[in-house]
Amino acid sequence: MTHAAHNFENKVVLITGVRSGIGQATALAFAECGAKLVLGDISDEASGTAATITGLGGEAVFVKTDVSQADSVKALVETAIETHGRIDGAFNNAGLLPRTASLAEIDPDEFDHTIAVDLRGVFLCMKYETAEMLKTGGGTIVNTASVAGLVADPGMASYVAAKHGVIGLTKAAALDYATHNIRINAIAPGLVATPMTQRWLDDPQVTQQLMENSPIGRAAKPEEIAGTVLHLSSDAASFITGQTFVVDGGQTAH
Ligand SMILES: NC(=O)c1ccc[n+]([C@@H]2O[C@H](COP(=O)([O-])OP(=O)(O)OC[C@H]3O[C@@H](n4cnc5c(N)ncnc54)[C@H](O)[C@@H]3O)[C@@H](O)[C@H]2O)c1
Repeated sequence: MTHAAHNFENKVVLITGVRSGIGQATALAFAECGAKLVLGDISDEASGTAATITGLGGEAVFVKTDVSQADSVKALVETAIETHGRIDGAFNNAGLLPRTASLAEIDPDEFDHTIAVDLRGVFLCMKYETAEMLKTGGGTIVNTASVAGLVADPGMASYVAAKHGVIGLTKAAALDYATHNIRINAIAPGLVATPMTQRWLDDPQVTQQLMENSPIGRAAKPEEIAGTVLHLSSDAASFITGQTFVVDGGQTAH
């Protein structure tokens, strides 16, 4: 898939959650379109994504980051400013999927941890990114929600709550900065084949259930999500803010 229609030449783009999956595919797509990348992830392995991009002749710096920690996110944003002086685009994508459990079986600390990474992490990223974008005249932000931010599935209460929160946070932040040339949107992917969902896709029974629920009859490849992120971050989407874009192969059209 080529993203050449989107030109991000000399644009500075910050992305979290880049070790694998959607974040990695989107980082590679932005790099293909000329962006200079600043990449944050809690996993050291994610530095491999920056190495791949520089190996292909692109520009990428990796900062080990825990998105649930304010100081850590602040340091990621500061690296972007020290390196490039600005942030033009951000893709706040880092997240985790907790184990499947009915609500009464969820440990309160486990609930807090899911909210800390999946919701507070998006808040912290936007807090420090918007502060810098205001200084340089604007920018674009895309947050990764999920179809779990629109509809619930059993056994996923904390994740569903966090992703509903991401959609609310996206709308609220978009209104705060609509007149400041900062556009803020969310994406809501359906099932995507990544390490996060490997445990489901490795189980034939779960896979069968998921496919019965999928009009398109398959999981997305991470690259199929990247295109929507690039579009929302591009000038082609200059009148879009506060919205959530569903990329789910028809799952929520039922
Ligand atoms: N795979 C799907 O079906 C699907 C569907 C909808 C939404 N999502 C969302 O997409 C995003 C990316 O997930 P993915 O499917 O590509 O999975 P993934 O496991 O490949 O990527 C998740 C990334 O987030 C990083 N991460 C986890 N905790 C972190 C933390 N505290 N600080 C910084 N980085 C952290 C991981 O190291 C990893 O690189 C997540 O927000 C996820 O909830 C995934």
